[in-house]
Amino acid sequence: MGKDVIIACDFSSKEEVFAFLDKFKDEKPFVKIGMELFYAAGPEIVKEIKKRGHKIFLDLKLHDIPNTVMKAMRVLANLDVDMTNLHAAGTAAMMEAAIKGLTREDGTRPILIAVTQLTSTSEERMRDELLIERPIDSVVIHYAMNSKKAGLDGVVCSPLEARKVHEICGNSFVTVTPGVRFADGEVGDQVRVMTPAQAKEIGSDYIVVGRPITQADDPVAAYRRCVAEFVG
Ligand code: C5P
Repeated sequence: MGKDVIIACDFSSKEEVFAFLDKFKDEKPFVKIGMELFYAAGPEIVKEIKKRGHKIFLDLKLHDIPNTVMKAMRVLANLDVDMTNLHAAGTAAMMEAAIKGLTREDGTRPILIAVTQLTSTSEERMRDELLIERPIDSVVIHYAMNSKKAGLDGVVCSPLEARKVHEICGNSFVTVTPGVRFADGEVGDQVRVMTPAQAKEIGSDYIVVGRPITQADDPVAAYRRCVAEFVG
């Protein structure tokens, strides 16, 4: 898997996302489209961004019964996205159904990664509300192993977990890591952060970077700085 910087396009309208992407004249960054933009602008937004030559990570985090996920994934594969995701908590049966739905007639399919535990879920909440009484790191690794067994390509994880995931699941199992900040930048609401250079050092395969690029005075320069630090 090639290392790349994915820009989280957390905008709420088509106009905003295009105004942002128009700033890029020489490169076509890999972009992440999340629920907000997808629900606001619909599947057309994916087709339009794709037509402009960008790779797309469609971050919809599917979690439902296997048959429903299989059919929804079939729709996403036809949208020609490059990467998409689901919740590993949906179990192996759901993940296997997702792969079946995503696989196109010619055998190709988008990269499929799993969310293990959301970073907003603390160990305490996991124990008290979800009744999962194990340390959160073991749960994350166990869910990553389940995802690998079900045939997925990787997981979304914090940069701090990427090394462990590779140790347990192998280096070809993809780690996609958000929570990236420049050494001299604002941290905002992210708690555990790493610089692009540190993310490279610990072996992340893809970094997902939102505000440090989208809110920068010069987004193109910020993107280039990320690529220079992370891809080299
Ligand atoms: O602006 P920022 O760089 O914090 O954006 C990070 C992106 O990654 C956002 O789209 C956020 O929803 C997503 N993300 C995250 N932490 C996770 C999973 C996804 O920050 N654990």
